[in-house]
Amino acid sequence: MTTTLITGANKGLGYETARRLIAAGHTVYIGSRDAERGRRAAAELGARPVVLDVTDDASVEAAAKAIEADGGLDVLVNNAGIEARLPDNGVPGAADVTADQMRTVFETNVFGVVRVTHAFLPLLRKSEAPVIVNVSSGLASLAAVSDPATPAYAYPGVAYPASKTAVNMVTVQFAKAFPEMRINAVEPGFTATDLNGRTGTQTVEEGAEIIVRMARVAPDGPTGGYFDAEGRLPW
Ligand SMILES: NC(=O)c1ccc[n+]([C@@H]2O[C@H](COP(=O)([O-])OP(=O)(O)OC[C@H]3O[C@@H](n4cnc5c(N)ncnc54)[C@H](OP(=O)(O)O)[C@@H]3O)[C@@H](O)[C@H]2O)c1
Repeated sequence: MTTTLITGANKGLGYETARRLIAAGHTVYIGSRDAERGRRAAAELGARPVVLDVTDDASVEAAAKAIEADGGLDVLVNNAGIEARLPDNGVPGAADVTADQMRTVFETNVFGVVRVTHAFLPLLRKSEAPVIVNVSSGLASLAAVSDPATPAYAYPGVAYPASKTAVNMVTVQFAKAFPEMRINAVEPGFTATDLNGRTGTQTVEEGAEIIVRMARVAPDGPTGGYFDAEGRLPW
C-alpha cells in the first residue's frame, strides 16, 4: 500500500492528481491550507484531509506528526504554488516587480517546498520506495525562456519563473543528497486552473499526467530530472 501526500490538493492539478492516484490504489492525503476546502475535496475523492499551509512551520510540523501517527508516507507531491498578480490580473514584469512580490512567491513556491520536504524526510526515509515530485513549470527552464523560438520566451513575469528555476535546483541538490529516493521536477503544461484565471489550454486531466507518472516512478526510475509528458526538458 502506497501512501501519498499532495500539497495544495483541494483544487486544480493537485486535486486531479489525487483523483488519479487514488484510482491507482494510493492512500492519498489532501493537503489544504483551509480545513473546510480540504475536508470537502477529501470527501469527494475518498481521500484523507490534512491541514497544511506550506508557509507555516507549525502547520507543516503538525501535518507531519499526524501522518506519521497514521502510519507514514511513501510519496510527497510538492504541488502548492502561487503566481504574483497585479490588480489588473497581469503579472509584474521586470520594470514593476518588487522584492516583496518576489518574497511572497518564493515563500510558497520555494521555501514551502524545502520546509515540507524537510518535515517529511524522516517519514520518507522509512519507506521502501520513497518518491518526491516537485511541481515546477516550463517557465523554470532558462533554456526555454531565453530562446525566442519557444512560447515561454514571451512570458514577461519575473517572480514565478525565478521561483520555479529555484525549485529545479532544489530538486537536483536533494536528488544528489538522497540517492535512495526518486526526486524529480515536472512541468504539467499550460493548464486551465485558478492559477491562470482558467486561461490554460490543457485540461487538468492532461496537466496531471506527468505528475501522476512521476509519483508512480519505479525505484530504478530516473531521479534528479525535469520532465513533461513528452520526456526530459532542457534546464
Ligand atoms: N496551471 C498551470 O498552467 C501550471 C503550469 C505549470 C505549473 N503549474 C504548477 O502546478 C501547481 C498547481 O497549480 P494549479 O495550476 O493547480 O493552481 P491552483 O488551482 O491555483 O491550485 C493551487 C493550489 O495551491 C494551494 N496553495 C497556495 N498557497 C498555499 C499555501 N501557502 N499552503 C498550501 N497550499 C497552498 C491552493 O490552495 P487555496 O485553494 O487555499 O488557494 C491550491 O490548492 C503549482 O505549483 C503551479 O505553479 C501550473
